[in-house]
Amino acid sequence: MEQKTIPIAEPLLGQKEIDYVTECIKTNWISSKGEYVTKFEQQFSKYCQTNYGVAVANGTVALHLALLALDIKKGDEVIIPDFTFAATINSILYTGATPVLVDVEQNTGNIDINKIKEKITSKTKAIMPVHIYGHPCKIDEIKDLCVSRNLFLIEDCAEAHGAEYKKKKVGSFSDIACFSFFGNKIITTGEGGMCITNNKELAEKMRVLKDHGMSKNKRYWHEIIGYNYRLTNIQAAIGVAQLENIDKFIEIRRRNAKQYNSLLQDINGITLQKEEKYARHVYWMYSILLNENTRLSRAELMQKLKSAGIDTREFFYPIHVMPPYKQFAVEKYPVTDYISQKGMNLPSSSRLSKDDISYICEKIKEIMK
Ligand SMILES: Cc1ncc(COP(=O)(O)O)c(C=O)c1O
Repeated sequence: MEQKTIPIAEPLLGQKEIDYVTECIKTNWISSKGEYVTKFEQQFSKYCQTNYGVAVANGTVALHLALLALDIKKGDEVIIPDFTFAATINSILYTGATPVLVDVEQNTGNIDINKIKEKITSKTKAIMPVHIYGHPCKIDEIKDLCVSRNLFLIEDCAEAHGAEYKKKKVGSFSDIACFSFFGNKIITTGEGGMCITNNKELAEKMRVLKDHGMSKNKRYWHEIIGYNYRLTNIQAAIGVAQLENIDKFIEIRRRNAKQYNSLLQDINGITLQKEEKYARHVYWMYSILLNENTRLSRAELMQKLKSAGIDTREFFYPIHVMPPYKQFAVEKYPVTDYISQKGMNLPSSSRLSKDDISYICEKIKEIMK
């Protein structure tokens, strides 16, 4: 029998994506003007229970654009989790502002609200939590803190499309929320991103900034220095088609997580992630932690799974250990250190079948025995 290969993530594309992209090509609307861009902005922002969407070239520039629109610059401080993908901290560094790292909670990997408070100074301008791997943060508590301390809230929702905190969509709590539509995300446009907001002025400012700072009323007149952060109509066409299936994708991911949980729960040496009561986890990545003193190391387990055709991923490294960011380590980050060493993601795409998950779990059981 041919060996299975199961990737950690892959897009799920269909006929609608082909039809909408074909329409862009047939009508010649392939660049960043065109009706799919507007449709995608309107439909995605509405899906996230917000009023305005500004489509951009990727999730990293979405974060940068949000920071620029809120006038965050050198001398300002922005609070972020130590456990995240590098784009979160890079976007702050692009503005010249100083990132302030905070440790995370063990179960969710999300920023620890109790540790945020002690990091707020007179220079703090914003808090930028990340809904890591698709599990929402305690976002209303973070929002209350921002309101009481007069700070901006920027949600990094790159990994959490459609996730909910107390039945409300992530991205709807903040001044600006940022999404990625990279190929491995819950919905994708290949590369792509979006900023969403309820604030009309911020949306308009972001539209100008993403288009070279060009006035919306006077063509080729530039009042400010902007960027070319535009998304193309072709990419947006894929996004509109993907959005038609987002709830189905999330249902598949939640069903898969349930199956993983039931098949892995009795395996010695593994800790499963619990979905917190307030959360609707969308499982961008299904994650497990290896316990202390297991017979096999994480690297060995990953290698053996790879030999069985199963792709896995270790958790992100702590931000504070990597060369460009070491300078921002001002204390110990024990939880990030721990989960980063012990955590791994299992295949998580919306294409996975029940048989795939049974096969993966069987292999893990066999290897861990
Ligand atoms: C938490 C987080 N923020 C930001 C980004 C950046 O998104 P992009 O890759 O679209 O630039 C990612 C991408 O994976 C991410 O995981």
